[in-house]
Amino acid sequence: MKIERFEMERYQSTWENTVEFNLADSGVHPITLAALVDHSWIREVLAREQLGYGHTNGSEELRTTIAGLYHAAGPEHVLVTSGTAEANFLITWALLEPGDHTVVMLPNYMQIPGLARAWGAEAVSSWLREPAEWMPDLEELERLVTPKTKAIFVCNPNNPTGAVFSVDAMNALCAAAARVNAWVVADEVYRGAELDGHPTSSFWGRYPKVIVTGGLSKAYGLPGLRIGWIVAPHDTVQVLWSYHDYTTIAPSVLSDHLARVALGPRAFQRLATRTRLILNENLEAVARWVDGLGGLVSWIAPRAGAIAFLRYQPRVNSTELATRLRKAHDVLVVPGDHFQLDGHIRIGYGGDKRLLEEGLRRIAEFLRTV
Ligand SMILES: Cc1ncc(COP(=O)(O)O)c(C=O)c1O
Repeated sequence: MKIERFEMERYQSTWENTVEFNLADSGVHPITLAALVDHSWIREVLAREQLGYGHTNGSEELRTTIAGLYHAAGPEHVLVTSGTAEANFLITWALLEPGDHTVVMLPNYMQIPGLARAWGAEAVSSWLREPAEWMPDLEELERLVTPKTKAIFVCNPNNPTGAVFSVDAMNALCAAAARVNAWVVADEVYRGAELDGHPTSSFWGRYPKVIVTGGLSKAYGLPGLRIGWIVAPHDTVQVLWSYHDYTTIAPSVLSDHLARVALGPRAFQRLATRTRLILNENLEAVARWVDGLGGLVSWIAPRAGAIAFLRYQPRVNSTELATRLRKAHDVLVVPGDHFQLDGHIRIGYGGDKRLLEEGLRRIAEFLRTV
């Protein structure tokens, strides 16, 4: 099996630790261990945790807590994984066979189309449209879904646009899948990072053949825990668990424990409030910056996620623009090319506000000279 290069991940891994102004991250600024739990808890509880394998599918308590984020889900519907990335990997691995037909909504994080092709499946693109504020084109979707379609893959809230699908669009998408008995696989890792504080509706529960992925990396500011999950029908979870035996076996016991704390009654609200504050305060700075550029940059303001997808005026290729920004101005942004949408860049605005503002100032200075 050959895999194609995962352009965005490789690009970020290569450059993110070399620049002063990293505007390529997509999550809310990570928190420290000390901000999550106090020292006595670390001493009394965490320090006494046996460093064993733990529950390979995630502890019952963690799975129950995660299930609580979804309507009518129970711990038997949840498999805990090492990040949402592993969750997506397991699903495509278990679901797709060579020659399978899938429809993938684009733009997205681009892990799914790469994996689908790696397993030998056909990944037909259905594009979210900028003039339609990055909403799905349901008529196009209807045309692309055929009786051979095995799965429709979506990312909602969406990376890179920050768009959130309407409930009507979600229901129409499930209806299209239901007509041909296809799976709906929804990456919902940005759920919980909404600017207005209203959690995005989940695909879970809208149709029996839905599989949802999520995790702590984006809305909770805890990517270092590497905790993700799958929510799926019970028999599907059992199948996916057996695939998990071949990858990472189990989530780290320390991460399992800290994830229980993060999603528990005391920390959950605190983290949600922090996320909303950071997103709103920082997005205001981005909006002011866009307004001040006199049309050099335009956007559909994101509704969720710590990412904004910007269309720029100067006629320069996005990879070239990102490379010049990095080399000459020490700023890292993601080129639209990584999403097959040249003429755009993705910026992450969930980080330190001072660095964000200086990064934006440098981007503006650069764009004015191109
Ligand atoms: C849509 C989407 N899914 C999955 C991931 C991977 O997340 P995790 O850190 O939970 O593995 C990312 C990371 O950027 C993402 O944007």
